[in-house]
Amino acid sequence: MTGTHADADLDLDLSAGGDDWRPTPHGRFLAQVLAEHPFAGGKDVLELGAGVANHTILLLRQEPRSLVATEILPELLDSTRANVERNCGANQPIEYRVADWLSTEGTFDLVVTNPPFCKSGKQNRRYFIDSLILDAHKRLRPGGELVFIQSSMADVAKTLARLDENGFDARVVASMDGPFRDYYFEDDAFMAEIQRVPDGFKVVEGTHLETLSVIHAKLRPFTPHEGAHIPAERRDG
Ligand SMILES: C[S@@+](CC[C@H](N)C(=O)[O-])C[C@H]1O[C@@H](n2cnc3c(N)ncnc32)[C@H](O)[C@@H]1O
Repeated sequence: MTGTHADADLDLDLSAGGDDWRPTPHGRFLAQVLAEHPFAGGKDVLELGAGVANHTILLLRQEPRSLVATEILPELLDSTRANVERNCGANQPIEYRVADWLSTEGTFDLVVTNPPFCKSGKQNRRYFIDSLILDAHKRLRPGGELVFIQSSMADVAKTLARLDENGFDARVVASMDGPFRDYYFEDDAFMAEIQRVPDGFKVVEGTHLETLSVIHAKLRPFTPHEGAHIPAERRDG
């Protein structure tokens, strides 16, 4: 996508260029779910990998107390900012930060993201999902929440089990089936990996389908065990 793309349903006027991530069905479905659930109202929100701001704009419409939107490269963040300013004006409670995933400052009430998966570029394609599950507690306040989307090919059962192990009460808020993106078929290693994921995909009348799930998880209260090697007050998260 170059130039301007208007998402009429959600009243989003988005533009993308260069290496910007063009919203896929994953981003579009998360946008629909965000439009229907006021997760961000009154909260301090961290959005990871904001891209062309397709979620940032919807989160700002919910009137968060503050929103930090991140991207991995400054030029990608320029697109986030341009789209926010065109859709919402410049006077918003938003800070734009270049940051590598959760490696950023502060604590928040809510973390929102559409994590890279098929094109994560990591040996463990689930890297960004697993990193979120393991380390989001460092960026979340007690009782803080995570909202993210993932494919069935990234193993939703594994995600829910790992969220539970790591102190989150989690549930699937919404899900939908959709056809594979063309680039899945072009990646032989990816096509081989997904064969091993239980319920990772289905083929209906010759069409490969994945299920997209939006997951909402809430961090349970936790006090480090008595006798933990490094006392809680001397640790970063
Ligand atoms: C799947 S895209 C989602 C983009 C947008 N939120 C959407 O849903 O359309 C993942 C985004 O994460 C960004 N990203 C990739 N690696 C990152 C990292 N290490 N830290 C922060 N963002 C990253 C990409 O540039 C991309 O915009």
